[in-house]
Amino acid sequence: MSKKHLYSSTDKMSDIICDNYSLLQVMSRFGLPLGFGDHSVEEVCKNSHVDCPTFLAVANFINKGHSRSSLPQTEISVESLMVYLKNAHHYFLDFQLPTIRRKLLEAIDCSMDNEVTFLILKFFDSYVKEVRNHMSYEDMYVFTYVEKLLKGKKSEDYDINMFVRHHDHINEKLTELKNSIIKYYPVSKKGYMMNAVLFDIFNCEKDLVSHNAVEDHLFVPAVLQLEEEVMKNLDHQNTSNKVEETNDKEETKSAQDDLSQREKEIICCVVKGMSNKEIAENLFISVHTVITHRRNIARKLQIHSPTLLTVYAIVNKLVDISEVKVGI
Ligand SMILES: [Fe+2]
Ligand SMILES: [Fe+2]
Repeated sequence: MSKKHLYSSTDKMSDIICDNYSLLQVMSRFGLPLGFGDHSVEEVCKNSHVDCPTFLAVANFINKGHSRSSLPQTEISVESLMVYLKNAHHYFLDFQLPTIRRKLLEAIDCSMDNEVTFLILKFFDSYVKEVRNHMSYEDMYVFTYVEKLLKGKKSEDYDINMFVRHHDHINEKLTELKNSIIKYYPVSKKGYMMNAVLFDIFNCEKDLVSHNAVEDHLFVPAVLQLEEEVMKNLDHQNTSNKVEETNDKEETKSAQDDLSQREKEIICCVVKGMSNKEIAENLFISVHTVITHRRNIARKLQIHSPTLLTVYAIVNKLVDISEVKVGI
């Protein structure tokens, strides 16, 4: 395998890790444990309920030096990718950066009365604060927004382009710190320790660049697509609701229009409390004809109860409320 090779679901997980050991970080952030024996990438993902195409998209993106153009079009699971990003935040804030600080403290030769060492520590602490703010914003706003999107809801006052507009590159300050140490750190007995810290800072810097690139080039496009789908669904729902409303209105209208003049007269008689015999006499028709009309009215209006027929007659102004016989 090489950087030109694209990892696939049938590759052995152990082979791709040996090919590029930085994928160990990718594995742990997706929640994939070690001890996978000779299992393929697909099997390992399946055993831990991780979306395999999303894992491969990130692994290949990192292996290809953050180039997306050479990657096949993959359906990325926004949910899976968000787990990866959240775990990465947790790793940086609760493990990687505190570890670097501890090593930095050890490496700084406090016996030397040198302000440079304290300035380095101060600079590092202010950097960690920035990273914490950056990641807290993503946890609190971006991921919360995307979680709602996944439930089919679209926020009115936030979209992923707002995140894109102010997504800054948090690794820059770390590069500055690293360069300052390399250039200006005073000669010390514990030089090997400072070099070990520098090694960690180099790795952390690379990892942060990678993290931001995954957010910009994999996460954002996948969320944009999700936004589009949610908007389409909501539009479709709105249109269906409007069509249903219009249909309801038209059905009521056509049912009423469909009533013959004689049927309307019979409704008036019914709601005035007249019996079939009285209606027949009043309209000079047979009782049998009255019954047939009433059956047709019930079918056309889908109303079978005299009470609801009364409501219908009042709402549609077939009778005045004062004419209605109370108790129907
Ligand atoms: Fe992030
Ligand atoms: Fe970020």
